[in-house]
Order: sequence, then structure tokens, then C-alpha cells
Amino acid sequence: MFCVLVGYWVIGVVEIREVPKTVEFRRIGAHSHIRGLGLDEKGKPKKVAAGLVGQLEAREAAGLVVEMIREGKMAGRGVLFVGPPGTGKTAIAVAIARELGEDTPFVALSASEVYSTEMKKTEVLMQALRKAIGVRIREERKVYEGVVKEIKIRRVKHPFNPYAMVPREARITLATRDDELTITVPEEVTVQLLQLGVRRGDVIWIDAETGRVYKVGKAKGYEKAKYYDVEAGRLVEIPEGMVKKTKEIVHTLTLHDLDVYIAAQRVTITSLFGFEAEKEISPEVRKTVDEQVRKWVSEGRGEIVPGVLFIDDAHMLDIESYSFLSRAMESELAPIIILATNRGVTKIRGTDIESPHGIPLDLLDRLLIIPTRPYKPDEIREIIKIRAEQEEVELTDEALELLTKIGSETSLRYAVQLMEPARIVAKRKGREEVRAEDVEEARKLFVDVKQSVEHIRKYEEMFLK
Ligand SMILES: Nc1ncnc2c1ncn2[C@@H]1O[C@H](COP(=O)(O)OP(=O)(O)OP(=O)(O)O)[C@@H](O)[C@H]1O
Ligand SMILES: [Mg+2]
Repeated sequence: MFCVLVGYWVIGVVEIREVPKTVEFRRIGAHSHIRGLGLDEKGKPKKVAAGLVGQLEAREAAGLVVEMIREGKMAGRGVLFVGPPGTGKTAIAVAIARELGEDTPFVALSASEVYSTEMKKTEVLMQALRKAIGVRIREERKVYEGVVKEIKIRRVKHPFNPYAMVPREARITLATRDDELTITVPEEVTVQLLQLGVRRGDVIWIDAETGRVYKVGKAKGYEKAKYYDVEAGRLVEIPEGMVKKTKEIVHTLTLHDLDVYIAAQRVTITSLFGFEAEKEISPEVRKTVDEQVRKWVSEGRGEIVPGVLFIDDAHMLDIESYSFLSRAMESELAPIIILATNRGVTKIRGTDIESPHGIPLDLLDRLLIIPTRPYKPDEIREIIKIRAEQEEVELTDEALELLTKIGSETSLRYAVQLMEPARIVAKRKGREEVRAEDVEEARKLFVDVKQSVEHIRKYEEMFLK
């Protein structure tokens, strides 16, 4: 008899209902062309690769950081990118995330996001830190796995609405290369089969104890599979062995996922207003989660995956945030912290103390510092070309040259930002290609920082006289 209790899975004392994996990544638009660090097998950067151009030393250093993270040699340490605006600090941090792959949590935060009206600074940081620590949970589960040969859903009348039919159970035939089995699954599983749109030819597995259904993909070369939908799913091999078997399943959750889950469970008992109203997570919840995770690790069922917390524009952090981060870096469960700043010696926010990059010295001491340098015109030209391609802007050679010149004289970001308005200017003239004159026009309408300061100064003089 195939018995199903409810659609969640149970580990130790904590029950987890499908918590989504949080690999948060915003602020990505400007860096969508970056696919990785563009290094060769020896870790040396290629001049132009994976969307990155030049900045060779910084990229090589970032490659070493990735290797140290993979080997677990970065614990309790951090990285600081320093360099003038628009020299690729954020871009290289994004590249590090890409290199680390999906399984390593990477959380990006701009330091200004710490100042939220709803949460304390330390809570924002704490949540970010915990989102950046993964827990890989390994489990042996009894499952039914195979390609769906047949699926029949039995529906019955809705108990309160005789005109509606609701799924009651399903008869499903699963096959592997060596075995075939027909099982009847109850309502909870049937609903999942419908939600996932499971059809003939799909490879799926069903957890024999909890009834959780997982769709792996579409069976490669399965002759009976007929798909009328346009979207092409992932093609997978037909499984081998028995349909009913023990399978090792690996989930990666973050500590924050677990915190939210446990907190939500508690709140439903104690509050009528739901969890959303109260966004801070209590220390008790975190303690419970930490204890559970430690237990999983000591029992060999779980593994900690330290991820990366990237804090951009770090000079916006204040002394309180810095001391919180320093303490967090020392704790047992700490992610790798990557900071970026374009400031030189400046005051640490919230104090009168001057410090390199506005960062307290004791924290600086733990950071590996990677400098980025201004680009040469050739590199700027190459970056603009890549961005133009990414944004589907067609530049004439003259327009590219002008943008390169603007990029060298003002800033790379300004040149990149002019591209889109210039494209619209060209479009209004009925042209697809963007010419130098369109760039000129856009440049007159949108000034760079130096010009905008000039502009204010001019008027200040007028008014003050
Ligand atoms: N080496 C590079 N290769 C390709 N694109 C780059 C490179 N460096 C920077 N870019 C692109 O140029 C733009 C500006 O770079 P980025 O935002 O990384 O600068 P930054 O050093 O973080 O500046 P800031 O100090 O102002 O934050 C982005 O769109 C970025 O993706
Ligand atoms: Mg930046």
C-alpha cells in the first residue's frame, strides 16, 4: 500500500516544506554580459573572455579567491576591491559569483540597503549573512522513480460543489530500463502531479514516505512521448534498476531559509497577524536552527557550504555595522565577505576617525585587498562593444570611437549609459544604427558629473552676487 501522510519531508525534529533556495542576485542588469572570470586552465586571465576585458591582475587575484573558497581556505577572511569608479569592482565580484556556480550561495547587497526603516541594521546584516551560508542536506529516501508510461487521474465530485470535479487519486505506471510498476497514489500526490504537469514521457520520482513529487525532465528518446507544448524541458536518460529504490537526495538550503521556516511555524501559533508583519527573526529561532544544523552535520547528514556575502559600496557602512561584521567573521558559521569601495582615506561613518577606505583597521587587517585600475582606451572600446552587443545597440565605427573617447575622458559608466538614449535618438530619426551625431545629441542632454557640478557652480555665482 502506498501511504502518504502530507506533502512535506521530515528530518530530525524539523519539518521542511519545500523551502525555495535563495540565491539572491539583484543589481545585475549592468553586468549581464559577464559570464565568469575568463581564466585559462592555469588561472591566467585571457585578455577578453567570458565578457570581461583587461583588468588582468584583479581577475587573476579573483581566480585565486575562487579557488580558496572552493578549498575552504577563506573561512573567517574577506576580500576588498578598491579602485576608482567604473573600473570593474562590481563586475569582477559578479564574475566570482558566476565562477562559484549555483550551489554556492552568493548574496549581493549594497551597503545603503542596510539602512532600512523596517529592520535594524544588524538584522539586515544578520539575514544577509545567513542567506550566504548553505546547508547541503543528504538523505537516503525510499522513492519510486521512472519514466511515466501511463497516468490516469480519477476525479470525484467536489464535496461542497457538485458541479466541480476534484482529483481523488491517480494510477501511474513508472518504468525504468529494467523494471515497471503501477501504483495508485492518493490525492496529495495527485495534486502535485497535476501542478507539475506530469505527462507520459516525463522522468519523475515520488518520495515513498512523504509523497513529494519531483520532476526530473523528459525521457530522452522515449517513443511514446508526445509533447504539444512549445517549451522544451530538460532531456534526461531513462533511469536504470528498480522503480522502487533507495535514492540519495541532496538539497541545499540556506540558514535563512531555515530561520524563516521555523519562525513562520512559531508565529502561526502565537500571532494572528502572520509572519510578514514582523520581519525580524528572534535569536531563539536562530539558535534552534543552528542546533539542528549542527546535529545534521555531526550525524553526517548535512554539510555546511559557506557562501559569499558581497557588500558593494562598503564605505556606506557605519561603525556599528563594521563591528557587527567583524564579530560575524569570527563566528563558527561565517560566509566569506567581499567588500568593494571607491573611497580613499575617509571618515568611518558614524565616527570622526579617518581610516583607509573608511573601514576600521582591525577589519581591514583580515581582508585581502585587490586593486582595480582605470582602463586604457582600447579596453574601454572593447567593453563598450560588448555592452552594445548586450543591449542590442548597433554602433557605427564613428559612434564607437566617440563613446570610447567620452569613456576615457569622463567615465566608462557615463559612456555606457549614453548608449541607450543615443539609440532612441537614432530611432526617432528612423534609423537602427547609432551614429556619432546621435551620441553627441544624447551627450548634450545628459551631462556627466563634472559638467553637472560646473552647471551648479555657474548658477550659484549668479545667485550669490
Ligand atoms: N573589465 C571589464 N570587462 C567588461 N565589462 C566591464 C569591465 N569593467 C567594468 N565593466 C562594466 O562597466 C560598467 C562599470 O563597471 P562596475 O560597475 O563594475 O564599476 P565599479 O568599479 O564597481 O564602480 P563603482 O566604484 O562606481 O561602483 C559595468 O557595466 C561593468 O559591467
Ligand atoms: Mg560598483
